[in-house]
Amino acid sequence: MPDHLRLDSPGSTLVIAIDDGTPSILHWGEVLDPDEDIPSLRAAQARPVPHAGLEQPSPISLMADAGRGYSGHPGLAVHRGGQDFVTDLRVETLSCTDDTITLNLVDAQACLAVSLIYRLDHRSDVLEIGTIVTNTGSTSLQLDWCASLVLPVPAQMAELVASGGRWCREFVLERTPLPARSWLAENRTGRTSHQNVPALTLGSAGFSETSGLIFGAVLAWSGNHRILLDRLADGRRVLQCGSLFLPGEVILAAGASHKVPPAYATCSGAGLGTYSAKWHRFVRDRVLPTLHGPRKVHLNTWEAIYFDHDVPTLQRLADAAAAIGVERFVLDDGWFLNRSDDHRALGDWTADPTKYPDGLTPLIDHVRALGMEFGLWVEPEMVNPDSDLFRAHPDWILNVPGRPPITGRHQYVLDLGRPEVFTYLFDALDQLLTANAIGYLKWDMNRDLTAPGHDGVASVDRQTRAVYHLIDKLRARHPDVEIESCASGGARADFGILARTHRVWPSDCNDALERIAILRGFGLYLPPEIMGAHIGPRPAHTTGRRLDFGFQAAVALFGHFGLELDVTTLDDVEREMLGRWIARYKQHRALLHAGVSVRLEADDTGLIANGVIAHDRGEALICCARVSTSPAIITPPLRLPGLDPARRYAVRIIERTDHHSRQMRKTTGFIDGEIIRLSGAALAAAGVQLPNLAPESAVLIHVTS
Ligand code: GLA
Repeated sequence: MPDHLRLDSPGSTLVIAIDDGTPSILHWGEVLDPDEDIPSLRAAQARPVPHAGLEQPSPISLMADAGRGYSGHPGLAVHRGGQDFVTDLRVETLSCTDDTITLNLVDAQACLAVSLIYRLDHRSDVLEIGTIVTNTGSTSLQLDWCASLVLPVPAQMAELVASGGRWCREFVLERTPLPARSWLAENRTGRTSHQNVPALTLGSAGFSETSGLIFGAVLAWSGNHRILLDRLADGRRVLQCGSLFLPGEVILAAGASHKVPPAYATCSGAGLGTYSAKWHRFVRDRVLPTLHGPRKVHLNTWEAIYFDHDVPTLQRLADAAAAIGVERFVLDDGWFLNRSDDHRALGDWTADPTKYPDGLTPLIDHVRALGMEFGLWVEPEMVNPDSDLFRAHPDWILNVPGRPPITGRHQYVLDLGRPEVFTYLFDALDQLLTANAIGYLKWDMNRDLTAPGHDGVASVDRQTRAVYHLIDKLRARHPDVEIESCASGGARADFGILARTHRVWPSDCNDALERIAILRGFGLYLPPEIMGAHIGPRPAHTTGRRLDFGFQAAVALFGHFGLELDVTTLDDVEREMLGRWIARYKQHRALLHAGVSVRLEADDTGLIANGVIAHDRGEALICCARVSTSPAIITPPLRLPGLDPARRYAVRIIERTDHHSRQMRKTTGFIDGEIIRLSGAALAAAGVQLPNLAPESAVLIHVTS
C-alpha cells in the first residue's frame, strides 16, 4: 500500500497520507510543486509529544475517528444495540487516477465500512467528497452522525465568514474572528433554511476580495445540517459538515449502506474574489442542469395581482409584458382549485374553474402567441387542511402520532416518504406538464418541517431524498422544463437542490437596496445568474421604499432579470425605460451569465459596486450603486481590479439612473460621458472618478478593449 496519494489541479493540491492504514490529509490547499518530496513534507509536519500528552500521534483521520486517540468531535458516530463505538477505520483498498482518489475503509470490530471518494475538479480547483457508510454487521446500526467532509484547517486561518439571515433578508455575510473554542451552526428547520447557509468560509487575518488565504466548504443538502469548526485541545482546528440526523432517523439494516450528501471544498491564495470565482465555475460546470438557451426575461404575476386571477386581466398583463420584451410569463400562486388566498387549496392541482373556465389553455395559448414561454407556480410538498386532498387523506402528512399537527402559513407538509403520496404528486405534476405547454415551474416550499414524523420515526432525511427523487423523475419525463427553487424566498438554495433546478428565488424582498446586499452574500458560493432578480412595484411591498425603476433595473441586471409588477399601469416614460433595460439585459447577458463576478471594494461606505469581467478579460460591466450618502464631499475614485494589466481599455458610463442630483455645480471628464482610455494596470491602481450620486441611484460602467 502506498504511504500517500496525491491529486493536483492548476490551483490546488491534495495529499492524503496513509500511516499504518489510517488515512489523513497531509495537505489540502494551494498547489505544491509536482516534485515536492512528500516524505519531507510529512517529516516537516511531524508533531512533538507534549508533556501530559498521548504517547502515540493521534492523526486527524479522514473520518476523524477516535480509535487512534483523536479527541476532537468524531466524524462518525454510530451505535448498535445500545452500544456506542469508537471507530478506527483503516484502508483496505484504494485507487488513484488523475483526478480521483477512492478509499475503502473498514473497521472490522465495529462491523463498519466507509467508502470515500475525493474528486478534484481541474477547471475550478473544487474538491468533491462522496461518502458511503455500510453496516457490515448482522444487526442493525444507528447512524447518529456521519460527516460529509472532515478537513484540517490551516493554522493561519484567523477569521470566518458564515452566511444566513431571515425571511426578506437572506444571505447576509457575517465575518468574525475565529473564536477561541469550537464554533457550531445547526439547522433543524427541515429545509436548507433562511438562517444558515450550509457552508463556511475561513480566511487569514485581514483577508480582502483580492488578498489573503481563503479556505471553505459547502454541503450539498436541502435538509437539516450541521457545520462544525472544531477546536482541539492541542490548538488545531478541524472543519466538518454533514446532514444532521434526528434521533433514530437513519438506521442501517444488516448489510445496508447510506450515502451521505456530498460536500465540496476549495481554497484560494488570492482573496475572496478568486475563491468565489472557483465556486461559480464549479456550479456552472458541474452542479447545475443544462439550460435550454439564454436566461429569459421574466414577468412574474405575484406582486402584480396576487390571488386576483382572471383570464382577460392576465392576457392584458401578458400583452403589456410582451410589448416591452418579456420572454417568459410566470403565473404565480392563485391559479388552482379554490385558491382565493393562502388559507386553502394546496394539494388540489387543477385549474380553478371559476377563474379559468376553460382551463389554463386559453391563457397559455395567448402567452405563447405573443412569443413568450409559459411558467407556472406550484408548491407540491404542501397541503392546506382546507383542501380536497387533505379531506380525503388526513393521514398523508408528516406528524407525530397523537399530537395535533402544527400549521405554518396555514399548511401541513405531505409525507413524501409514503409511496402513495409520492405517486399522487408525481401524477398531478406530470399531468399538468403533459396537458399544458408549460416550459417552467416555480417550485415553492413555504414552511419548516416541524415534528416531521413518518410512521413514528423522524423523517427529514427521507423527505429530502424523496423531494429530490420527485424532481428528478419529473425532469426525466419532461427534460425541457426548467425549474426554479423557491422556499419563502431563499430558504432552499444549496448545491443539492441546484443539481436539479435551474434558478433560485433568493428572497421575497424585491427592494433593490436590500437586494444589492443579498446579491453580495448569495454570490459568495453561487453564480449571480441563477438568482432571480425582479423589478417590483413602487412602493416595494415588503419595505415600503419607493425606488426608481432605473435603480431597480441596474441592480436586477446582475441577477436573472425579471419584472414582478402590473406592467399595464406603467406610463409611457416608465414603459420606455423598462423596455430599454430589458434590451440592455439581452445585450449583455452572455457576458453577465458566463463571466467572472467581482465584488469591488469601494473606498466609500455608501457605495456598493459589483461587476462581471469576461473570462478573456476583454470586457466588463460594473454597477456602482449608492445606497447611502458618501462620507466624503466627493466620492473617491473606484478602483477596477481584475482586468488585464497590459491591455488598454475604453471605459464609459452607459447608464445613470440619477439625473436629479443637485450636489455638483460642475462635472467633467468621465462623469460627463467622456470615454476614458486606460490600461488594466491603471484602472486597478488609480481607478475612475464616479459622479456624486444621490442615494438609491446607480451608474452602469462598460469596459471594452
Ligand atoms: C412564496 C414565494 C413568493 C410567492 C408566494 C406565493 O412566498 O416566495 O415568491 O410565490 O409564495 O404564495
